[in-house]
Amino acid sequence: MQIVIRPDRNTACATAASLIASQLNTKPASVLGLATGRTMESVYDALVDLHEAGAVGFSAATSFNLDEYLAIAPDDPRSYRSTMDRLLFDRNDIDLARTHVPHGSGPGSGGAAYEALIRDAGGIDLQLLGIGENGHIGFNEPLSSFASRTREVTLAPATRRQNAALFDGDEDAVPKRAITMGIATVLEARRILLVVTGRAKAGILARAVEGPVTAMIGATALHFHPDCLVVADEDAAGNLAEREYYDAMAAGSQEP
Ligand code: GLP
Repeated sequence: MQIVIRPDRNTACATAASLIASQLNTKPASVLGLATGRTMESVYDALVDLHEAGAVGFSAATSFNLDEYLAIAPDDPRSYRSTMDRLLFDRNDIDLARTHVPHGSGPGSGGAAYEALIRDAGGIDLQLLGIGENGHIGFNEPLSSFASRTREVTLAPATRRQNAALFDGDEDAVPKRAITMGIATVLEARRILLVVTGRAKAGILARAVEGPVTAMIGATALHFHPDCLVVADEDAAGNLAEREYYDAMAAGSQEP
């Protein structure tokens, strides 16, 4: 794992966007694993800016989103499918037919079908991740097995509270169930990019990076991935004990 700390949210998200752009520039037909959440809104804004400046194209790319609420129709504005269309897919040249969001009903639904689609696409080249305040990646809530695959899950009360803002602040309106890539699915991506911003994430980021590996914090499974980069802003990095070393590592990786 490597950690890069940027002064503020916008710079951290711009760094993440340029890493995604260089992945696409190196391999235009990349398979991207994408995430949702408020953190990603700034990442996607920065990516759209790069696209509009002619610095990146998505026309040959394929994407797989991490997760989706159950019991919400894809065309509901609060679904992750609608959110992705609005934030990213409708604002670049990606072929919508090659964008995938898991879903729990209808043709091609369910975890096994989603895993088959990822396999048929050749696997995920770069998986973008955010982290929930309880340490989840995707919707892999506490106790999710590190061997878990794409499946339906029950959301933790903390997650429903955290995501209530997207449901007019009404926690009861947040669905109780979701479908998510599993932790093992995420770990199969060739590269992983975790983006964490804001003071509210400082505690969980320190536990995810520096605490013991535990199924209570899904993000600790990222220690089993050989190519995982964490991009954080100063606020989110506030509780990291080994900060000095991470800065030295980041400086060292730019030296010959
Ligand atoms: C949701 C998503 C997660 C995401 C998390 C963080 O719960 N399922 O994949 O990491 O939100 O959200 P935010 O960036 O809004 O803090």
